[in-house]
Amino acid sequence: MRRASETAAVSSKYSPGSLLSVGHLSVAEVSAILAETARIAALSPAERSAILRGRTIALLFYESSTRTRTSFELAAKSLGATTTLVSDKSSSIEKGESLKDTGLTLRALGAECIILRHSASGAPFVLARETGLPVLNAGDGMHEHPSQALLDLRTILNRLHGADKATSITEHSLSGVTVTITGDILHSRVARSNAMLLPRLGARVLLCGPTKLLPEDALGLGPGIEIERDFDRALAKSQVVMMLRIQKERIAGIELDLNEYIHRYQLNSERLLASAPQALVLHPGPMIRGLEISDEVADGAQSAIEEQVAHGLAIRSALLARALSAGIFKGQTI
Ligand code: NCD
Repeated sequence: MRRASETAAVSSKYSPGSLLSVGHLSVAEVSAILAETARIAALSPAERSAILRGRTIALLFYESSTRTRTSFELAAKSLGATTTLVSDKSSSIEKGESLKDTGLTLRALGAECIILRHSASGAPFVLARETGLPVLNAGDGMHEHPSQALLDLRTILNRLHGADKATSITEHSLSGVTVTITGDILHSRVARSNAMLLPRLGARVLLCGPTKLLPEDALGLGPGIEIERDFDRALAKSQVVMMLRIQKERIAGIELDLNEYIHRYQLNSERLLASAPQALVLHPGPMIRGLEISDEVADGAQSAIEEQVAHGLAIRSALLARALSAGIFKGQTI
């Protein structure tokens, strides 16, 4: 686990307010983000729209996105900011412009913060270094998806401990909680960010999937993370189960027998009822219904999948306030 001094050293290379990796956040910072999320959510729309009034935020998306892009954009607008979206289709990126030049162009046009999704792991670090602007990592290749891990954390805390307990956390907030993450762990930035964050708050994380999608050395397993290949056994130990899509855009060369995969790893109602009748069901989306998850489970009472989306809007509001040193982060260099 990273000590606070190391955390500060890592993040000081980039503009304060950047969120490039969950590994850069101390537990106290995660706690402050959750507190600001709850504070902003409780404001009236008029109060909320004063937080970033007059500020300019750019969304730079080199990969497809529905939830992440829309929630960052709506969050920025609800805080009063002006937003602009640049995507790889329909911009000079198609003509071969580099990430650096695109970033400098956005900065010259007045962008004060850039939200970046990119297929290359590490791209947000490059953009943050080259522009000096706060950059929010909205997913970089197979590396990280920090805002997703934070919204998953808020969803888990709300459902397991109640909304009032989701406003501050310690190293023990998830003690006694086992979270199983099942599916294409190898290619999942969501799995990586969650596996970095949740054990630091006391959770045990079980990774589940076939060897092709979950090699023995997956994610450089650290404390609090184990592999359990038998999904039913993992479920029986879990309070939370997070299902993942097979990332077909990153899976080149890997052959899978989908019927076998469905048989062993699909979360369906028989399996849920038999092994984890109380467990909370999460999925970052997009879901491939009928493959990793059945309709009944996705739409069932144990599913918090739509809540995750709503928490995404709330968490991203706080991350934008933090990026631009507004709200409770005013004047702080975190
Ligand atoms: C995920 C992503 O893009 O990493 N989606 C998301 O942001 N909610 C997961 C995925 O694409 O399967």
